[in-house]
Amino acid sequence: MEKSVALVTGASSGIGESFARLLAQRGHDVVLVARRADRLQAVADRATKEHGAAAEVLVADLETDDGVGMVEARLSDAARPVELVVNNAGFGTSGRFHEMAVEGEEAEIRLNVLALVRLTHAALAGMVERGHGGVINVSSVAAYQPTPNSATYCATKAFVSSFTNAIHEELHGTGVKAMVLAPGFTHTEFHERSGIGNKHQMPEFLWQSCDEVVTAALKAYDRGRAVCVPGPINTVAAAFSGAMPAGVSRKIAGIVTKRVD
Ligand SMILES: NC(=O)c1ccc[n+]([C@@H]2O[C@H](COP(=O)([O-])OP(=O)(O)OC[C@H]3O[C@@H](n4cnc5c(N)ncnc54)[C@H](OP(=O)(O)O)[C@@H]3O)[C@@H](O)[C@H]2O)c1
Repeated sequence: MEKSVALVTGASSGIGESFARLLAQRGHDVVLVARRADRLQAVADRATKEHGAAAEVLVADLETDDGVGMVEARLSDAARPVELVVNNAGFGTSGRFHEMAVEGEEAEIRLNVLALVRLTHAALAGMVERGHGGVINVSSVAAYQPTPNSATYCATKAFVSSFTNAIHEELHGTGVKAMVLAPGFTHTEFHERSGIGNKHQMPEFLWQSCDEVVTAALKAYDRGRAVCVPGPINTVAAAFSGAMPAGVSRKIAGIVTKRVD
């Protein structure tokens, strides 16, 4: 019997690498997307060697129209249907908005928002026609909290959460799922690459491993949840941010980010 296919963006490191490995372990073939070809190939080789998965590598820059177009074409190929799409690729910028290069902010919106919207769209048409499949869109607990010095990043993640929640509801009765995953601090390359916060100043108990995050995500996805906030600390943080008056949570976020920068 043919295995069902899962496509993961940002599969060359961190949470995406963990999705690729754990989905292969669950019996999916995988399509892996990112820019670093050597890292992607290593993840693909491991999926094949350890789990017998067929693994395709798509080297694509999802900040560009060409890169997104390449992945859209793969998702629209009715001869090789994709059962699960994980829109995980993302990065953050850090600093006072007016002092940063606007090109970097635009690139962040292109990747975190525009690519995710286009790939969700490319995936869902065929899935609804087939009556099964689903999308996991990776947001963040940052979606719940406008944070000084991460203004654009938090706004992109708020978009991802709002968008995916709405689509989850639209898909009711189609057999197709959409879930938003909102991790908190997770050990990956994200903080070094984005310069968001100083990870060494954050206590270890706040952090999760990628496998913990992805295991929780896949469990929630199986149950048909709209949202997965992995781990009790992140669940409480997200609930508090949502419940506090905006003026109070904004001030607290400003104080915390000053301390960790
Ligand atoms: N780590 C955390 O604490 C945390 C918390 C909440 C949410 N998140 C979210 O989790 C997701 C994954 O991040 P991570 O923490 O695993 O960080 P990571 O280790 O830096 O992984 C980011 C992935 O995105 C890919 N990527 C970046 N720019 C890309 C582009 N232009 N085109 C295609 N792929 C691109 C990277 O691959 P290449 O560089 O090879 O292209 C890499 O595979 C992101 O959406 C992030 O916002 C992370």
